[in-house]
Amino acid sequence: MPGTNTDRAARIVARCREIAEYTEIPGEITRLFLTPPMHEVHALLRDWMEAAGMTVRIDAIGNLRGFWPGLVPGSPRLLIGSHLDTVPNAGAFDGVLGVVLAVAIIEELRGDLLPFAIEVIGFSEEEGVRFSKPFLGSLALVGKLDTETLARTDRHGISLRQAIDDYGLDPTPLPAATLAGEAFAYLEIHIEQGPLLESEETSLGVVEALVGQTRMELIFTGQANHAGTTPMHLRHDAIAAAAEWITAVERYASSHDGLVATVGKLEAAPGAGNVIAGQVIASLDVRHADDKIREASVLAILKRADKAAKGRGVHVSCNRQLEQPAVPLDLHLTALLSKAATEAGFPARSMTSGAGHDAMILAPAVPSAMLFLRSPGGLSHHPKETVLPQDVEAALATAMEFLAQLRDHRTNPKEIHA
Ligand code: GLV
Ligand code: MN
Ligand code: MN
Repeated sequence: MPGTNTDRAARIVARCREIAEYTEIPGEITRLFLTPPMHEVHALLRDWMEAAGMTVRIDAIGNLRGFWPGLVPGSPRLLIGSHLDTVPNAGAFDGVLGVVLAVAIIEELRGDLLPFAIEVIGFSEEEGVRFSKPFLGSLALVGKLDTETLARTDRHGISLRQAIDDYGLDPTPLPAATLAGEAFAYLEIHIEQGPLLESEETSLGVVEALVGQTRMELIFTGQANHAGTTPMHLRHDAIAAAAEWITAVERYASSHDGLVATVGKLEAAPGAGNVIAGQVIASLDVRHADDKIREASVLAILKRADKAAKGRGVHVSCNRQLEQPAVPLDLHLTALLSKAATEAGFPARSMTSGAGHDAMILAPAVPSAMLFLRSPGGLSHHPKETVLPQDVEAALATAMEFLAQLRDHRTNPKEIHA
């Protein structure tokens, strides 16, 4: 990627916007796991990776993997990646920026071989939208995608196993997607998706830990009935029960420090203005840096659901979809990344991530570090999500310095923890 730093940053931003054109819904950016537009995104990235000299493959779960060799065959491997799927009506940078930046890092090497290989990974699924379970791409990489998950279905009744097959992949060699223990480190570059860096007029953050999260689905079952003939005191209104509970969720989280709780999705049936709702399916997402507080909060929030339901003769049940503990990132690698940011001229703020990332899944298996870029307006999971080119330059410079530190630090990557 020739040119000045400014040209390079502009090109990275332009590439993210080009990827954003591949969407299931024209006029917005919606690209769920293994949907048709992902083929085009893979083709585009494959072209860029191959032009940079990488060898590219798509693994059994649909992760795009570009390989840059090390000085000697069998060199240990640094992983750099993020995800390519989006939430519905997303912005252009969540996940994608980290993959495009990773390709730019390889381009910046200008053919140099390092004492370690680099594998760039565009994870196929991180958001959890299609199968109501996040991190499918990274779970497969660390060998934690169970067969039960393969049987999950999306809202059209298509199973994960079938979706893999429909995409033209073969789900049977899923273990082949697993890292063979050759990776010595993982670096993920991502937008902050929050307001902290902007409020401190800082380009970059280095993540020390990611908060834990619980995701579940609550099903309120009442009795569908005629809206005109059923007196108020004889109703079993599932929407009214869910509504009372949702405001209780907001109140509970607002009164507990560091806790966030969200009901982001509601489906009511049968879904007509003149019918009392017989059923509501509501999502619940609860996060806190302290796992014990999160677990206690989930219990308290479920109690409130029972109370709101009982008062109306409505039944409530729940399905847990994710129980993800808080994850600390690797101390040594994180210190090296901070040092790299400072030496590149962009001292970074240490911070915690409230968002989930593939690094959460990789970290227990491979020493991991994360670099955040400021999010203008603190906006993310929204079409107006953006990045500043100057911060993209800062991230690229920091990543190149990080590689130099890794190279100088040791010829044997295992020495990183010495
Ligand atoms: C991923 O974007 C998350 O929900 O944190
Ligand atoms: Mn993301
Ligand atoms: Mn996201």
